[in-house]
Amino acid sequence: TSRFRIAVMPGDGIGQEVMPEGLRVLEAAAQRFGLTLDTTPIAWASCDWYTRTGEMMPSDWKQQLDGHDAIYFGAVGWPATVPDHISLWGSLLKFRREFDQYINLRPVRLFEGVPCPLANRKPGDIDFYVVRENTEGEYTNIGGVMWPGTEQEVVLQQNVFSRRGADRVLKYAFDLAQSRARKKVTVATKSNGIAVSMPWWDGRADAMAAAYPEIAVDKQHIDILCARFVLQPDRFDVVVASNLFGDILSDLGPACTGTIGLAPSANLDPERRFPSLFEPVHGSAPDIFGKNIANPVAMIWSGALMLDFLSHCQGAGRAAHDAIVRAIEDVIRSGPRTPDLGGTASTTEMGEAIAAAVLRG
Ligand code: NAD
Ligand code: IPM
Ligand code: MN
Repeated sequence: TSRFRIAVMPGDGIGQEVMPEGLRVLEAAAQRFGLTLDTTPIAWASCDWYTRTGEMMPSDWKQQLDGHDAIYFGAVGWPATVPDHISLWGSLLKFRREFDQYINLRPVRLFEGVPCPLANRKPGDIDFYVVRENTEGEYTNIGGVMWPGTEQEVVLQQNVFSRRGADRVLKYAFDLAQSRARKKVTVATKSNGIAVSMPWWDGRADAMAAAYPEIAVDKQHIDILCARFVLQPDRFDVVVASNLFGDILSDLGPACTGTIGLAPSANLDPERRFPSLFEPVHGSAPDIFGKNIANPVAMIWSGALMLDFLSHCQGAGRAAHDAIVRAIEDVIRSGPRTPDLGGTASTTEMGEAIAAAVLRG
């Protein structure tokens, strides 16, 4: 049998409500497909931990994660008590960097039974991936405020793009497109306004495209690209973007499919030198926390992506992934559904229904 060691970090807010449903469905899939999941519950990487200790993680956090194959991550952030840049740079963004999870893979799909906010769209019309660069770009802490408190006050913040960083995410996106029917890559750019890094990024995309003659490549400025997510979502297959552009597109895409409560993500080190991290795209949702109404699908689907990646997309892990996705499709179609999907079910009821559907097969 396959045995996977998974560090479980619920984090803050609805992370704590959707994580039990994610684990429930993983356990059901493990039981059905003969997988063994060794889970380590972890209370740090949360704002509660910060409030108690003054730090987001203990100093030996890396040793504590030694030997784990993956991190299953809820959401971090509780801005009422801890500033977001402290909680996120102290946890999620640290994992992405220190574990070199340079791909953030974010599927966007319209499911049958979800009212689509876009007119005249049906399942199949929206089915693409955002491949987001996950370790550099616009996300830096390099910079500072000059002449603070004066009329001359200026803030500078550096962007960092490396050839290695751009080339590896572009290559991943082109390889992904190569494995798909439509073989299409859209590159998010902004080479009209951002006059240094984005023309350079376009150049890296052109260089990569030259090695993939079968792939149709389309560069689009981020502004019109956002408009086309709404107006022509059927033209997308694989969308590759810098860290910030990918962040924005991966909330916009799922919003076009009805709710961000569905959207999963896989923060991958494709070379498997370090643990990869699987989490919903959404955050801790303080506005709905405590009501048990958060949609658990993003958490559950992220768990399916985890089993698939850990099993190298084959065998029992692949079968478990497919069964979880089918169970999600069933329950979204016929209920119970959480309020963001137009239903009245609780987080727990929806999670239980998906777990039962996994066991039924
Ligand atoms: P958010 O994603 O937490 O919430 C945005 C909106 O979507 C809210 O109205 C929320 O109720 C709704 N929503 C989110 N998930 C939902 C779900 N599963 N079901 C139903 N509705 C859902 O974004 P925000 O409000 O900008 O951020 C809140 C906190 O979360 C901040 O601290 C932020 O930094 C953090 N955050 C963390 C992550 C992460 O850990 N990966 C991601 C995004 C935001
Ligand atoms: C995401 C989140 C994070 C990001 C935040 C919480 C730092 O929005 O995973 O999309 O911007 O990457
Ligand atoms: Mn985001």
